[in-house]
Amino acid sequence: HRTAAIIPAAGRGLRLGPGAPKALRTLSGTPMLVHAVRAMDRARAVSLIVVVAPPDGADEVRHLLDEHTSLAPGGELPATDVLVVPGGETRQDSVRLGLAALPDDVDAVLVHDAARPLVPVDTVDAVAAAVREGAPAVVPALPVPDTVKEVEPRTDGGPEPVTGTPERSRLRAVQTPQGFALKVLAAAHEQVAREGDGVTDDAGMVERLGIEVVVVPGHEEAFKVTRPLDLVLAEAVIARRRA
Ligand code: C5P
Repeated sequence: HRTAAIIPAAGRGLRLGPGAPKALRTLSGTPMLVHAVRAMDRARAVSLIVVVAPPDGADEVRHLLDEHTSLAPGGELPATDVLVVPGGETRQDSVRLGLAALPDDVDAVLVHDAARPLVPVDTVDAVAAAVREGAPAVVPALPVPDTVKEVEPRTDGGPEPVTGTPERSRLRAVQTPQGFALKVLAAAHEQVAREGDGVTDDAGMVERLGIEVVVVPGHEEAFKVTRPLDLVLAEAVIARRRA
């Protein structure tokens, strides 16, 4: 019985502005992906990490991880095995390629976005523990501070009509790592590969199978680095941790 972490890191990160693939951009001098690998490595439950690299960037990523893990001072060498595989066109494809690389003795899996480099180890441990205790699917989540509207989307720049206001107290913003019994996530990916799209996270696919997904408390520092302002925030969090 082993728990593996899959880190999809194949995205281009266009919303962040032009430049290298998002996971390879640096935060306080260290690539975002290296921060994410360290976050998974610190979790007690995780004994294998599969990094899903940009489709043509697996060698570069392998090199980068070697460089950063062997040069890092203070025993920062990963205690875990790290595999690097090339990713796909969509996040879903990338996760599926990561799943395909898992050895047979893995029975639980955490899927963690490289774009959430600063997730605290306690959050990772809480997700892994809930899966170990028998939950088929677990997501860390936080209450939503903004009121959220549903709209009829328009692409012509005109005002979008509001079609509804979900009750805020029932909404949660979900983060990663999302944790799964491996059988459950593998079945979900098989199903959705056939069915298609419109799903933006792994738990969403599990919900489509009619399997229960539960929520554990997320953490503010597990935010996704998506837009330029997020880089400023991430570096501020790192500076505070180092202080
Ligand atoms: O685009 P988004 O912010 O949802 O991406 C979330 C995570 O999925 C990122 O870590 C990104 O690198 C990864 N991803 C991927 N393969 C893709 C697209 C995104 O691994 N084709």
